[in-house]
Amino acid sequence: MADKQKIAILTSGGDAPGMNAAVRAVVRTALYFDMEVYGVQEGYLGLKEDNIHRLTAGDVGDIIHRGGTMLGTARLPEFASDPMVRRQCYENLRAHGIDGLVVCGGDGSYRGANLVYKESGIKVVGLPGTIDNDLAYTDFTIGFDTAVNTCVDNINKLRDTMASHGRVSVVDVMGRGCGDIAVHSGIAAGAEAILIPEIKKTDNQWLDYLVSKLRTAFARGKKYGIIVMAEGVYATPKMHHFTADYIASWLNANSETIGHRVDARGCVIGHVQRGGSPTATDRILAARMGEEAVSLLREDKGGLCVGIVKNRIIAVEIEKALSMKRRVDKHLIELADILAR
Ligand code: F6P
Repeated sequence: MADKQKIAILTSGGDAPGMNAAVRAVVRTALYFDMEVYGVQEGYLGLKEDNIHRLTAGDVGDIIHRGGTMLGTARLPEFASDPMVRRQCYENLRAHGIDGLVVCGGDGSYRGANLVYKESGIKVVGLPGTIDNDLAYTDFTIGFDTAVNTCVDNINKLRDTMASHGRVSVVDVMGRGCGDIAVHSGIAAGAEAILIPEIKKTDNQWLDYLVSKLRTAFARGKKYGIIVMAEGVYATPKMHHFTADYIASWLNANSETIGHRVDARGCVIGHVQRGGSPTATDRILAARMGEEAVSLLREDKGGLCVGIVKNRIIAVEIEKALSMKRRVDKHLIELADILAR
């Protein structure tokens, strides 16, 4: 009788709601096809430290609705920089007889996955697990929808208090270099203005833009305002000062240019948007993508990552995926602008 195919799964980088659903999908699909499945604790660190354990169907019970990742996660820069660390990881995988690995994470995790595939011959498949939605080859990443919903929920709460006091809230959301969380949550929360790093403006240009948006809102009788800003806007050294609090203070000090009294406050949503129970959309995405990852490994395919384009599950070479440049959806930005008039 032929040996069972043995595969492992790890989650790496910033956690994302839906990672657990992806782990469950990979484990249960693999077991369905009579494969052996192993979970690696804390991403590439667990590979290095041989923190690798067999998983049963029961081990992934009661996790589909939980945020975070039952496998834990880590960022391990030595994995990319130190070939000895990587060699140790490959030896540990081989010692368990594992010849297929699913890596669920963002672009940094994918770079690691590509090294494993190129250097060790172990078949690797990537699953896009990140709230940022910053992987160009896929329309959506696992965790993005939940993060957007968390931001919208928080902005709804801010709206209540901003409306009661006639204030302006400047809300900072995550996304690293990608403005998708800001654009989607800004549209869904009815923001007056959305600031994203893909639109290149200086601090003064952004302030002019905000003045004009708030003038329009106050002129039509609005008593308060919501501004959503992606953290990537202040990521460059020149823009480091341009935080939600800085913008709020500037607006307060420049009420006369806006033509209305302004009482603005900054609010950083922060890591809250990375937690919480995944939405149904993220759970279904994780289920579909996890199933595809196992199918690819069953066909002995590696060096690929799973995505979704126009609601169809696709697979793309990891190297190609990493070289693709994400384009901002200009129409969504125009729409946000039209709807805020
Ligand atoms: O990549 C996911 C992410 O949450 C980004 O949106 C954010 O910039 C970063 O991770 C924060 O990283 P950390 O949790 O290590 O502070």
